[in-house]
Amino acid sequence: MQINLGAQPFAVIETEALVSYVFEETDPMQGRIAEIDHSAGGLLSKLAKSGELTGKNLEFTLVHSPAGLKAARLLLVGAGKREQFNSATLRKIAGAALRYLKSRSVKNFALLVREGDATEESAQVIAEGALTADFESDKYKTEKKNDKRIDTVSLAGFAESERSAGEKGLSKGRTIAESQNFARDLINEPSNKLTPSILAQKAEAMAKSAGLSVEILDEKKIADLKMGALLSVAQGSIEPPRMIVITYNPPVAKTGAPVIGLIGKAVTFDTGGISIKPSEGMEKMKYDMAGGATMIGVMRALASLKPGVRVICVVPSTENMPGGRAQKPGDIQTAMSGKTIEVLNTDAEGRLILADGVHYARQLGATHLIDAATLTGAIVVALAGVNVGVFGSDQPFTDKLLASAKATGEKMWQMPVDDDYREFIKGTVADIQNIGSGKGGGAITGAMFIKEFTGDSPWIHLDIAGTAWNDDSKPWLAKGPTGVALRTLVHLVMSY
Ligand code: BES
Ligand code: ZN
Ligand code: ZN
Repeated sequence: MQINLGAQPFAVIETEALVSYVFEETDPMQGRIAEIDHSAGGLLSKLAKSGELTGKNLEFTLVHSPAGLKAARLLLVGAGKREQFNSATLRKIAGAALRYLKSRSVKNFALLVREGDATEESAQVIAEGALTADFESDKYKTEKKNDKRIDTVSLAGFAESERSAGEKGLSKGRTIAESQNFARDLINEPSNKLTPSILAQKAEAMAKSAGLSVEILDEKKIADLKMGALLSVAQGSIEPPRMIVITYNPPVAKTGAPVIGLIGKAVTFDTGGISIKPSEGMEKMKYDMAGGATMIGVMRALASLKPGVRVICVVPSTENMPGGRAQKPGDIQTAMSGKTIEVLNTDAEGRLILADGVHYARQLGATHLIDAATLTGAIVVALAGVNVGVFGSDQPFTDKLLASAKATGEKMWQMPVDDDYREFIKGTVADIQNIGSGKGGGAITGAMFIKEFTGDSPWIHLDIAGTAWNDDSKPWLAKGPTGVALRTLVHLVMSY
């Protein structure tokens, strides 16, 4: 799909659909909507009067062969109250319009921004909204719906003096959305098509073509480095584990700048191991590598956006299988850091592989750590599929991430990680145990476990178990992998 910046006045654009958005206000006939209404001989005023056009959030009003316009259709999308309108709403409008028109076999459309919205930020979020909305999970369908494909989206309403900002925004938006879709593609792959080695190959290929440094540690190197926690999960599978390391080095590194470590859980399939999961819904556990895929996607975007700080991405990847060599409840493992772990539940494997992941990221020089993981069912209980669970050891750093989440329209909610919870994972026979002792707070216990391996480095943990996968489609996004947290993390790194 192409997305570009058009130059024509809206009335003469020859397109299958001209799209704009309408605010919910006493008189919605304002600015550009009033201009369209004027061109169309008062059609929109009439629709507004009859109650068919109200501006309510994501209301669609479709008019065929509108008078006074060269466009074959006019689509007006409700934008809600003007005071509440922001770039997150505009992103959703662009995405929802695309999916609405695509389902009606429209192949190209022009999106006219409202007065005042011809900015870099608008262009960026429209590109993000349209490109992420266009993503479909049809890779393995032998018959693709070719009649339902958007070829071109054109942006309209940018004056000559606003064009360079528009182009800049489009380019940034394209980079971010394509990286998000790259991550979503990986997340969608079933475990027979995406083993830890295949994930590593794909990450390596991406990194090389993007100009990033990359190193893949195989099972032997992982053993040499004594990554006992990762190895303990991997030992139940015939598929060998991999530790993927991708590094971005800025053109000019500032002295004293932080080095960001991005660590992502990539369990390519989580059966639970010997503490096996119920079969119902187990197929979904192919997305247990979403945290890793997201971090790899972030690196892809950073390679183009070129932030001023160094970023080290560490992705431990393995299957969690109940094979004959699998670890068993009660087994004691030694992590790379030297800490001993009593594995009371083999299904709490994400925290084990992240223990070695965060430790290794620090050893490689990361000063600030962020991990993303589909870590717990408990976060789904707490926050459902709405908010990402955020846990942080350093409030200023966490506040910075929450500000980035807000700026990029990703919902995140902070959860506690104070020392009272440390008790939950205190070991009886080893230093720590990998699950809490039956006192609730499952998502927090998971976070506390990872925290044990972060030393004194500022650290943030994102539990994306509830938000990395949409069970139902949204007007602006297909069902399936979401690529959540990628935009926030790119924004955060770019803000240094
Ligand atoms: N991958 C799961 C967490 C998960 C659950 C992701 C639901 C997506 C949807 C993780 O490895 C896991 O199994 N966690 C256990 C931990 C428990 C044994 C302490 C859980 O949440 O049940
Ligand atoms: Zn598990
Ligand atoms: Zn898991």
